[in-house]
Amino acid sequence: MHNLLTIPSKLSNYPVDWVENIDEIKQQINSDNTITIIDKNVAMLYPDLCEHPSCIIIPAEESSKTLKMAGKLSKVLIKSKANTRTKLVAIGGGIVQDLVGFVASIYCRGIDYTLVPTTLLAQADSCIGGKTSINHGDRKNILGTFYPPTNILIYPGFIDTLTTTDYLSGWGEIYKFHILQGKMSEFSLDDVDSCIQDGLKYKASILAIDEFDKGERRWLNYGHTFGHALETSSDHKIPHGLAVILGSMIATRIAHKLEYKVKDYDLILSTGINLIKQSGLKLKKSWFDFNELMEIVKSDKKSTGELTMALVDSKPNLVNVKDLSIVKEALKEVYESI
Ligand SMILES: NC(=O)c1ccc[n+]([C@@H]2O[C@H](COP(=O)([O-])OP(=O)(O)OC[C@H]3O[C@@H](n4cnc5c(N)ncnc54)[C@H](O)[C@@H]3O)[C@@H](O)[C@H]2O)c1
Ligand SMILES: [Zn+2]
Repeated sequence: MHNLLTIPSKLSNYPVDWVENIDEIKQQINSDNTITIIDKNVAMLYPDLCEHPSCIIIPAEESSKTLKMAGKLSKVLIKSKANTRTKLVAIGGGIVQDLVGFVASIYCRGIDYTLVPTTLLAQADSCIGGKTSINHGDRKNILGTFYPPTNILIYPGFIDTLTTTDYLSGWGEIYKFHILQGKMSEFSLDDVDSCIQDGLKYKASILAIDEFDKGERRWLNYGHTFGHALETSSDHKIPHGLAVILGSMIATRIAHKLEYKVKDYDLILSTGINLIKQSGLKLKKSWFDFNELMEIVKSDKKSTGELTMALVDSKPNLVNVKDLSIVKEALKEVYESI
């Protein structure tokens, strides 16, 4: 195991360690005062990780990110006599991370937790930044806290067992990082380990200047305005990272129509098309309905009532898009290009 980087935080700095051998994760789980919460599918694939009697298995479904599940989990922690010296270990993708982070942030007013991200999306992106989330009513991620983990352990071997869809979904956030940095010409699926490490380093550099999402961190929402809306309009048939690819292609087309200096415009679009095609995702025209998507975008928690989205000119910016006919055209073109 070696230290990859340390994320600065106003709450407490936290290390990200690169783990070559899964046994090093087992050692953490089996230490005293530790309770492991693991994704059900990961538990089936890696049974050694849930041998400890206090291990809790959670179905990795959006319906697990609820106050009801947070309450259930808290009850189990109370039953296990968890206290301020207890450390939780969350093993799974973004769903387990969001739920366990939320519970860790409120149980006894905050207890330690280790993140062991097992999806490419969580390893390359979501494991850092300290956002915890719960869905409520019909609103995704509407409840949550900023509560970074105590440490993060990345074992890249987990990626080998992902489905093609979940694997390519993870590439969605890496694709977004390449657009934001104006380096789409370097994008390649060949070296996933380097892409995870580069993605984390870039995100860490943004967190260092804006941990709490007040300014620059909002650039990382590139592709998420219409990405989130497409997740909703497709009733979550489009996984998060693939929705980010589609949303990034829409944002890129909007920037081009606004005559921004979009570097590698054609390459950004052709790479996005390839990733979506490789994933096998079949898009439905109804998911791209302009009026429905605009309604969803307006009800987003980050919405100001206007269409404000991250766009890249010579550098990333938050832009208020006033001409909605451009948006309508971009949506149609992206749908028809795939
Ligand atoms: N907190 C943040 O900053 C942040 C950022 C982005 C996304 N998110 C949230 O993350 C969630 C999406 O997370 P995700 O894409 O990591 O996926 P996920 O947690 O939904 O997992 C995707 C699928 O992969 C399976 N899986 C996980 N690890 C596996 C492995 N090693 N081998 C085989 N299967 C495995 C899971 O069981 C699940 O079926 C969403 O709820 C989203 O809102 C949070
Ligand atoms: Zn995302």
